[in-house]
Amino acid sequence: MNLNATTMPAIRARGIGVAFGGISVLRDVTLDILPGEIHGLIGENGAGKSTLGKVLGGYYTASAGELEVFGTRAHPWNPPAALARGVAIMHQELQLVPDLTVAQNVFLGIEEHSFGVLKTTEAARLDELMASSGFTLQPNAVVSTLPIADQQKIEILRALARHAKVIVMDEPTSSLSKGEITQLHEAMKALRDEGRTVIYVSHFLDDIMEITDRVTVLRDGALVATKITAQETKSSLVSAMLGDGKTETPFPQKKIPAKRVAALQVTGIASGKGANGATLHVNKGEIVGLIGLVGSGRSEIARAIIGADPATSGEVVLEGTAYGKASVAKSNDLGMVMVPEDRRKQGLVMTIPVCANMTLPHLSQFSLAGIIRSGLERLHAGRLIDHFSVRPADLDGNILNYSGGNQQKVLISKWLMEDPRVILLDEPSRGVDVGARETIHNAIAELAEKGAAVLLISSEIEEVLGLAHRAYLVDRGRIVEEIDPATSDVAEVLAALFRHQGTGKMEEAS
Ligand SMILES: Nc1ncnc2c1ncn2[C@@H]1O[C@H](COP(=O)(O)OP(=O)(O)OP(=O)(O)O)[C@@H](O)[C@H]1O
Ligand SMILES: [Mg+2]
Repeated sequence: MNLNATTMPAIRARGIGVAFGGISVLRDVTLDILPGEIHGLIGENGAGKSTLGKVLGGYYTASAGELEVFGTRAHPWNPPAALARGVAIMHQELQLVPDLTVAQNVFLGIEEHSFGVLKTTEAARLDELMASSGFTLQPNAVVSTLPIADQQKIEILRALARHAKVIVMDEPTSSLSKGEITQLHEAMKALRDEGRTVIYVSHFLDDIMEITDRVTVLRDGALVATKITAQETKSSLVSAMLGDGKTETPFPQKKIPAKRVAALQVTGIASGKGANGATLHVNKGEIVGLIGLVGSGRSEIARAIIGADPATSGEVVLEGTAYGKASVAKSNDLGMVMVPEDRRKQGLVMTIPVCANMTLPHLSQFSLAGIIRSGLERLHAGRLIDHFSVRPADLDGNILNYSGGNQQKVLISKWLMEDPRVILLDEPSRGVDVGARETIHNAIAELAEKGAAVLLISSEIEEVLGLAHRAYLVDRGRIVEEIDPATSDVAEVLAALFRHQGTGKMEEAS
């Protein structure tokens, strides 16, 4: 990176302000982003990172300030204008067209095909993009059939396909595996070495420390500082994000349940969707992790257990009672709940306000003779908002406009404040900031302490080791090893995962 003061910045922002309905969410943001740098953008949930990214990409119009791109005023400014000037953005919430193929999504809006048939030049271009980024996908696969990690790769390819000189990547790694994150980092470095600029929004401070040249910290819509990464530490960044000299806290202490009482016993569950004969159990008061590489079938095992995907074989026993044919509704009635991985598709209802999203699963609690007692409902939701510091703290807020991390808080709070007997958590802290992560970790520990059986899926091995009493390693939809988190470290677990990879003895999931 060239920090020479005479370099013309790729982006020059002066006093940028953004307000929605009179509420200001970005204030007086002034910064230069240089050609050929990887520039980190960090801050708590709702700090304004995505909003700033969307201003750069032309999706939001700044209500104050000036934006220059390569020395020329960005005006008029909208997504096509931004693209034409070389600024592309990869959104935090994936924006793919589910019914189109990988190739169609990558070239959407810039396609050269006629009558829906890809030109051979495009097929070649896609090959080239996949080779340079290291992400390999089937060009003709329909997007809705692909796991989130693959969809995230499509977003990345899509930005690359636009020959952008400046690429805003808004939390691109949230569902990628360690290996894929490394690939993405390599692709980012290659872009930097070609003189292009990457603006990298991430809650993973290790990644920010490792790959960025400079990093800008936002807090409550204002810019705290832009720093040279090499002169910072992870904890100096955390304090800058949180203010008041706060730092990251360790995992809550693990309480060992007094008695071993099986809450959930699963034998040989298979679904045809990726669960492939998994056998596991979780005792009351226990947190049990499922660790696997992306695509190993962790989520699919959980989905088969709760009945979100119909099980084709296997047995689920809940507190000693065989369960029979599972469905999500029946599972919920019996006290088994799941916080899904894909909050937009499976978790939240985007057309109803925050309050209703929180109380939705519990409406019977709030109704008397079929009439919802809205006072009680609002009281309950208000407590959840406080407990999880959902921002904005507005019961009637439009969930669609909430920052990614705050949506996640809403989704998770609705189940964590219940008293489920068994809870399946799929990536519960994805996209949430250090403060909210701690709240979620404490809530999980408290649930277990109250006697719930917790099955925890997380791509962050550290998180599983930090929270779980026991953990299973998963490959091809089966359990291949059980580990003791107290005596394992991340490197060992990763080595074990790679050792087991593809060794799943059963036939492949169809
Ligand atoms: N279209 C909109 N209408 C109203 N408010 C909005 C809109 N978009 C964003 N906001 C608000 O702006 C604030 C900043 O949101 P933003 O998405 O930029 O946060 P973020 O830093 O990206 O957070 P996260 O880490 O959770 O993704 C939030 O309070 C959010 O609710
Ligand atoms: Mg965001």
